[in-house]
Amino acid sequence: MPKAKVFSTHPLYPEAQQLLQATCECEFWSKPERPSREELFRRIQDKEGLVCLLTEKIGDDLLRAAPKLRLVANVAVGYDNIDLPACTKRGVAATNTPGVLDETTADFAWALLLAVARRVVEADQFVRAGSWQGWDFDQFCGTDVWGKTLGIVGFGRIGRAVARRANGFGMKVLYHNRNRADEAIEKDNRAEYRDMNTLLAESDFVSLHIPLNGDTRQLFDAPKFFRMKPTAFLINTSRGPVVDEAALVHALESKKIAGAGLDVFEQEPFVHAGLKRSNVVLAPHLGSASNETRAKMALVAAQNAVAFFQGRRPPNMLNPEAMKPR
Ligand code: DGY
Repeated sequence: MPKAKVFSTHPLYPEAQQLLQATCECEFWSKPERPSREELFRRIQDKEGLVCLLTEKIGDDLLRAAPKLRLVANVAVGYDNIDLPACTKRGVAATNTPGVLDETTADFAWALLLAVARRVVEADQFVRAGSWQGWDFDQFCGTDVWGKTLGIVGFGRIGRAVARRANGFGMKVLYHNRNRADEAIEKDNRAEYRDMNTLLAESDFVSLHIPLNGDTRQLFDAPKFFRMKPTAFLINTSRGPVVDEAALVHALESKKIAGAGLDVFEQEPFVHAGLKRSNVVLAPHLGSASNETRAKMALVAAQNAVAFFQGRRPPNMLNPEAMKPR
């Protein structure tokens, strides 16, 4: 039987690449820039599988350009780049890479939290600029993290991994989630449930761990910032559009909140000029960016594709309906 033809919009790590190549006839995009839309459409016109990154928008236009396509394997846990109903309608299966990036993303949320609270980036720039004249009593005094209250919005795997780290800092951990977690989970993570408004009012740090969808788009708007403490910080490692960026800029300018640590933005890679402030730490969407984790994500995506093309249900199927006989 001929091997299924697959286009990957990025080289994968060796183990993932070898796995995929054993089952599929693969073409890997290896240029440093992302493939243009036209290039992508050209490459997938005869492909049955697409392995893609979150920068590729998978909508009806792309599906139309790839009449043979049967599988889209996203190398990311978030899949807001994929129009799932459009895939399902055309019988195209879609998969993601949950589970392997939770701890790494939680680490990065903490990196941002600590950096903004303790003014690490400002201090680094100051030292590099050669401005340091000597120790001073009130130089770059920040905000304590230990013993404070952390509010986690979205208590899935990543939110809980963030909570476990907070326990080590002696923090009080609050969480809000669409559905309250089981008592055992609350106990294990030493986290207390709060409704959203109470969480915002009580937290010194608010960290977002929610997927982007119709319910969460611009969830963090002006009224939410108004409810936060003026001494509180917002940390976002989920998706940019869950925050109304203009409202965030206004909250920072008017000192409704104390600062922010942001890994994601409303229109990446564009960053609102009002966010480029000393009390905001910015990163270019790095949450899962460790070599170990990216290798695991690539492997999970490859395993999903291999399972699919061997006629098995992929372990991380997002739209099982697409595999039903039509
Ligand atoms: C994801 O997987 O959704 C992250 O945003 C990128 O790793």
